[in-house]
Order: sequence, then structure tokens, then C-alpha cells
Amino acid sequence: MKNKILKLKKEKNAILLAHYYTLPEVQEIADYVGDSLALAQAAATTDAQIILFAGVHFMAETAKILNPTRKVIIPDMEAGCSLADSCPADDFAQFLQNYPNHTVLSYINCSAAVKALSDIIVTSGNALNIVSQFPVDENIVFAPDRNLGAYVNAATGRNMVLWDGACHVHDQLNADAVFDLKQRYPQAKIIAHPECKATVLALADFVGSTAAMLKFVSSDSVQEYIVATETGIIYEMLNQNSQKVFHIVTTDQSCSCNDCEYMKKNTLTKIEKALRTETPEIKLDENLMVLAKQPLLRMLEMGR
Ligand code: 13P
Ligand code: SF4
Repeated sequence: MKNKILKLKKEKNAILLAHYYTLPEVQEIADYVGDSLALAQAAATTDAQIILFAGVHFMAETAKILNPTRKVIIPDMEAGCSLADSCPADDFAQFLQNYPNHTVLSYINCSAAVKALSDIIVTSGNALNIVSQFPVDENIVFAPDRNLGAYVNAATGRNMVLWDGACHVHDQLNADAVFDLKQRYPQAKIIAHPECKATVLALADFVGSTAAMLKFVSSDSVQEYIVATETGIIYEMLNQNSQKVFHIVTTDQSCSCNDCEYMKKNTLTKIEKALRTETPEIKLDENLMVLAKQPLLRMLEMGR
């Protein structure tokens, strides 16, 4: 299957972009593996004819918006995102009516329609940097992730109005589970993704995006880590740090509840089929793409 995909990729001048949360065998054959920010940047600049996006739907939409002349295909249209789903565009438009004169910042984990209602997009990799560039007294609405929003508020001394959304994978991780692991492995440092609850982040030695966590463990001298995020990241952590030990935080030792089931829908079989048939393809309304592109371009500009 891997050889078939590699051959098709070459024949069709396609690039395979994969998020760190996808299955190890997918990351292994991807042209580029990254976090949301790096993947958006890669999608914006590629000259490949086809972008095959092994991630989730909003990421593939973002690729199409940033590089509309490319054909963007996704292995499974059902690869959604609970965080993006927690902010329906109609409800958000209504919510914004309560906040005139507010700058609207949205986390990239949202639909194209929510992006179109936003002034600027951020990712977990650049949110602190971008929010810090606004005056302290700027009125800001932040959507859809209440945990990331609260983290940015605390870290930058802002008081952004938060939409009440969350990622089911990160939001279910709790401080007790982190604390238990720390009791068992006191020498380990705790690292966490900012989509986790404040009670988890309060215990962390380092908080950062997927790519930032990877960079942290690779440059840090400690040998052992307690990792509060989605399980897929462990593959690349071990790739880069084979001598280090990682303990993933789970809600229940008998389940892999912090596997993002949407990311795991990107199997090799579906990737091969998507590439062979060039479907399903991401198609978006032209006007919507124009509206959603502005806040994304602002992000790429301000996040530089
Ligand atoms: P990053 O890729 O920005 O770290 O976000 C994590 C995530 O949940 C992606 O959906
Ligand atoms: Fe969405 Fe959470 Fe899955 Fe990321 S991990 S794609 S935020 S559901």
C-alpha cells in the first residue's frame, strides 16, 4: 500500500501533508508532517498539483482557501473536529451581535464559515505572539476554544471574551491523571497542549503547540516526560528522541480515549483510494473562500 501511494504521488504530482496526530504509517510516508500552523504554511506555498491532506476537514479547507488553484483531497470526509463543531457559524454570528467593536480572533480549528466571520486566525503555535501584538485594552472575542482562550488571557494579561467550545480529546484530560503519573514518575517533566483545561496546564512545566512540545523535548536535558495531548505525537517524539521516555496522560488506563478518532480515519487504504480517484475533493463557495482567506493571510503576516 505504501509503495502504491508513493508511486501515485509521483505520477500525479501530489503532496501528502499529514498532521502529527495521524497514524505512524501515514506520518512515515508523508512529504510533510507538521502542526496546524506548519501545515497551513506548507499548503499555502506548495506548487504540487494535488494536495492530499491527512488531517481533518478544517485543515483541508484551510489548504484550499490558501491555495485555491490546487486540487485538495481528503481521505475521509467524515474526518471532522469536535472543536470546530462546537462553534456553528450561525450561532457564532448571533453571538457576535453582542460584541460590536470587538476584534474577532478565531483559532484555526473552525469552519471556513467561522473564519469568514473573523478578523484574524491564530493557531496554538502563534496565538500568544499574535494576541500580544494587539494593545492590552483591545476588545477581543476569541473562538472557539475556551481552554486555549483562557490560557492566552492568563499569559498575556488580556480579557478576551471566550466562546464556550472545546476539543473532546484534550478537554477530557484531568489534573488527577496528570498528578497520578507525576507521583509514579517524579523525575518526569509535564508538558501539555493549550487545548487542555487550566487545571492541567497549571501542573505543566511546559505548555505549547504540537510542534513546540516536540522542540521542547528535543532541546531539553531531562530524559522523561508526562505528555498531556493526543497520542499521535509520541511517534515523532520517539523518532527524534529514541533514548527518552514518554508517558501519555490518559483518562482511563483501559482505553485510548485521547486518540482523536477523526485523525485516525486517515488510513493507508483510504489515502491510496483518494489519490487514485482524486476524491473526495474539497470544494468551497468562491465568495466564502475570499472572505475566509483575509483573516488567514493576516495570521501568516502577523505570525511571521
Ligand atoms: P496544533 O497542531 O496547532 O498543535 O493543534 C492541535 C490540534 O488539536 C489539531 O487539531
Ligand atoms: Fe479537533 Fe481535537 Fe481532533 Fe484536534 S484533536 S482535530 S482539536 S477533535
